[in-house]
Amino acid sequence: MLHPPAPIAIVGAMHDELAALLAAMPDEQPVRAAGRDFWQGHLEGQPVVVVLSRIGKVAAATTATVLLERFGVRAVLFTGVAGGLAPGVRVGDVVVATELLQHDMDASPLFPAYEVPLYGRARFAADAALAEALAGVAAEALREPAALLGAQAVQDFGLAAPRVHRGLVASGDRFVATAAESERLRAALPEALAVEMEGAAMAQVCHDYGVPFAAVRTVSDRADDAAHTDFTRFVATVASRCSEAVVRAALRRLAPRR
Ligand code: ADE
Repeated sequence: MLHPPAPIAIVGAMHDELAALLAAMPDEQPVRAAGRDFWQGHLEGQPVVVVLSRIGKVAAATTATVLLERFGVRAVLFTGVAGGLAPGVRVGDVVVATELLQHDMDASPLFPAYEVPLYGRARFAADAALAEALAGVAAEALREPAALLGAQAVQDFGLAAPRVHRGLVASGDRFVATAAESERLRAALPEALAVEMEGAAMAQVCHDYGVPFAAVRTVSDRADDAAHTDFTRFVATVASRCSEAVVRAALRRLAPRR
């Protein structure tokens, strides 16, 4: 007898980011575990588990562990927002992680800065095929920003020509909201495209379980002195539309495994 394919996990850190996805599921059913609702159902015909991780690395790690242990997901896809760090990464751009690192991990001098002790590495790779699929669908979605985000949002946020970037994403338990701090991070980690608060933790847990992980982030702010206001406005108006479009297109592209 054929088993149904294992579900894909779709995780977001904030409610706004996942609201549109949940609304698009025809058959979602919540399962309560670890103080969270794990929504089982289908999106684009694929079995999925959609969950709000909440914010920060520990919340992300707990969520990933439950998804892997209890729901047996075959891949974990994180969607959300990030602060742009590298010079060309602007509000409204999309960042697809190829590698993730914890910028607040520092057990030096026992271990090199950023290295996760006893793992022998600082960076955890995203699944290359998933990252490629996400970057492809994001580029398609961003080709017509007004169709995706609405003409008003394009005007308000100056999103006329958003771009897709691929590369290193830095995670830490800090909302980076001063130019001084983002400047320090840029100097220490010149390769890092964006900063957020969950991805590297989830990538580490997925690495432990040998399950593919990928993360796609819309840039909500520049992690500078204006980050707080930019972030709040962006999440409320733009982020969820971008997440929904990219995740749904990615699910359509990923052939179901039978
Ligand atoms: N997520 C979105 N913007 C962020 C920032 N500036 N710092 C950390 N996480 C973020």
